[in-house]
Amino acid sequence: MSKISIVYHSGYGHTQKQAEAVRDGAAANTNDEVHLIPVDDVDDHWETLEASDAIIFGSPTYMGGVSAQFKTFADKSSKVWFTRGWQDKIAAGFTNSSSQNGDKHSTLQQLSILAAQHGMLWVPLGLAPGNNSSEGSVEDVNRLGASLGAMAQSNADQGPEHGPIASDLETAKLLGRKVTEIANRFNRTQAA
Ligand SMILES: Cc1cc2nc3c(=O)[nH]c(=O)nc-3n(C[C@H](O)[C@H](O)[C@H](O)COP(=O)(O)O)c2cc1C
Repeated sequence: MSKISIVYHSGYGHTQKQAEAVRDGAAANTNDEVHLIPVDDVDDHWETLEASDAIIFGSPTYMGGVSAQFKTFADKSSKVWFTRGWQDKIAAGFTNSSSQNGDKHSTLQQLSILAAQHGMLWVPLGLAPGNNSSEGSVEDVNRLGASLGAMAQSNADQGPEHGPIASDLETAKLLGRKVTEIANRFNRTQAA
């Protein structure tokens, strides 16, 4: 059994839908404990993060990087950095933005560097790119072809009831499931 936390920001609800999909994937096995934590509430949840086996970071891409609210959380986590409190915890990340590319990779890099600064063990998306052949379509998982983490795209003129689309939510779900699987494998190895 593992404890997984998802810390995320969402200004308008699109990244929240992605975060909920990550949560659903991470919680696929009912033995695991999964916490969905908006960055604005993080001050009530530092102990939960400390007790987690894995922390998954999520932010919309704003101006080619994480949102200001997510960055505030990242900077606050420097207190934990001083104590090496997240050393050797598992980490992963996801982001959503309105453009197909939109510089989302830059956000995932920021999230992975945050994890590396804490000495965490980064789990990549682990899915082959979809929608990259004559047989492909936007309905493929990993349709945006990311490796570092899960990407999603939501149209700028539509609310979260329209996006991210199903394939992006499935991609997010698979990231959550992968992180839980790795955390459980890691816990079994440590127990042995
Ligand atoms: C301040 C701001 C900056 C943005 N910068 C980008 C960007 O760099 N690339 C992009 O593709 N979309 C950008 N967008 C669009 C958002 O990423 C997109 O609307 C996303 O779905 C918002 O997610 P949220 O509803 O979780 O806040 C930006 C939106 C805002 C409000």
